[in-house]
Amino acid sequence: MKEELYDFGMVGLGVMGRNFILNVADNGFSTVGLDLDKEKVNALKEEAEDRKIKSTDSIKEFVSSLSSPRKIMLLVPAGKPVDGVIQDLIPLLDKGDLIIDGGNSYFTDTNRRSQELEEKGINFFGMGVSGGAEGARRGPSIMPGGPEAAYQSVKPIMEAVSAKVNGDPCVAYLGPKSAGNYVKMVHNGIEYGLMQLIAEAYDLLRNVAGLDNDEMQEVFTKWNEGRLQSFLVEITSKIFKVKDDESGRHLVDLILDKAKQKGTGKWTSQNAMDLGMPIPTIDMAVTMRELSSFKSERITIDSIYEGCGSAPSVDKEAFVSQVESALYFAFIITYAQGMAVLSNASEEYGYNLNLETVAKIWRGGCIIRAALLEDIMQAYKADPKLFNLITSPDFASTILTLEKDARKVISTGIEAGIPIAALSSTISYFDAFRSGRLPLNVVQAQRDFFGSHTYERVDKDGIFHTEWE
Ligand code: 6PG
Repeated sequence: MKEELYDFGMVGLGVMGRNFILNVADNGFSTVGLDLDKEKVNALKEEAEDRKIKSTDSIKEFVSSLSSPRKIMLLVPAGKPVDGVIQDLIPLLDKGDLIIDGGNSYFTDTNRRSQELEEKGINFFGMGVSGGAEGARRGPSIMPGGPEAAYQSVKPIMEAVSAKVNGDPCVAYLGPKSAGNYVKMVHNGIEYGLMQLIAEAYDLLRNVAGLDNDEMQEVFTKWNEGRLQSFLVEITSKIFKVKDDESGRHLVDLILDKAKQKGTGKWTSQNAMDLGMPIPTIDMAVTMRELSSFKSERITIDSIYEGCGSAPSVDKEAFVSQVESALYFAFIITYAQGMAVLSNASEEYGYNLNLETVAKIWRGGCIIRAALLEDIMQAYKADPKLFNLITSPDFASTILTLEKDARKVISTGIEAGIPIAALSSTISYFDAFRSGRLPLNVVQAQRDFFGSHTYERVDKDGIFHTEWE
């Protein structure tokens, strides 16, 4: 009897891999999972029940179980483990097979792997998957990049397993080489920005308006029913409900204020700097995670500067409403920064990204899904070459209704001595971009003064140098 061949293979049966494979099987595709850890292999066997799932710890059995061309997805930690699995797979694969790296790999690693595998006739995809464990199981947002023809073979599977918004799958072919990983990296940069902004809004509500956790939960729940509707606002509202089993206190109050990171936000900032693209809100979100790690130093410094800044008295209800506007303003600016980097990177790296499509597949399944993405999608539909979201006529009229409240909230926060680095960066970004004349003429004069670096003039063409003294 001929052995049954499977449609799709998954290497790495950790939580993400296991959930993704169950999702694939639930959508009617037969799948085989590989992990060197026998416990994980057995865990999948148990969970598989009557689904068409096979699991093994033998790479040979895994590869020979797959129908041709083989479609093999990796959900293993980024970095060396990805290279290790690829090297193990290469001798067992045939030309035309497809390897898909579903992790948060750095985009230049994806370019290198693509080239190596292309030389061997093997197709390679760097594919961002967002939505955490629950997303992988019930429908993530999927960001694939690689050779377009090879995408056709996995398209039906990816469209079936992805999240759906109004029936549209939250997956689309994005571009060649590392386009998918790059888009996922910037997704995470935006994620860092939004998370930090929400944390700063919480700080303002607590320390200026005096909201307690129950009120906070009500406010965030209400916000999530309006224009701020988003996964991150929704989970934040839920966080304020949870009590610690032991002490009965709100768990959020017991969590140490040091935020960890795995690097994707930092990569976004680093690469945006390389491209010369300003993304100050994402930069500040990374910076604040770094600063948060200095806990004991912060406590010492707090004792030196105790009493700096004092919260003005505010009308609670009015202030909550202003913070909502400021947060919405800041969300728009953060997406604007991320989309602008994507637009620039697309040119620089030849991704040929369609930003309407990017916004479209971010509307569901991923961590930064938000009602706002529908408007972002429309803005890029109306003008695919939009320089920046803030230049879109629809966004401009929205921003004009928000910016006064944003200024008010930010100046109140600064007066109160609350660190609102991300929030305040949004207004500076906005003000800088709407400044026909910035004070950078002084910087140019200084450069020329101490280093003869020359300058240009507003009144005539040419390159000039002055002996300043
Ligand atoms: C997602 C998340 C996911 C991961 C983050 C966490 O889109 O599902 O972004 O990729 O949870 O990378 O990143 P940090 O540990 O750096 O906060």
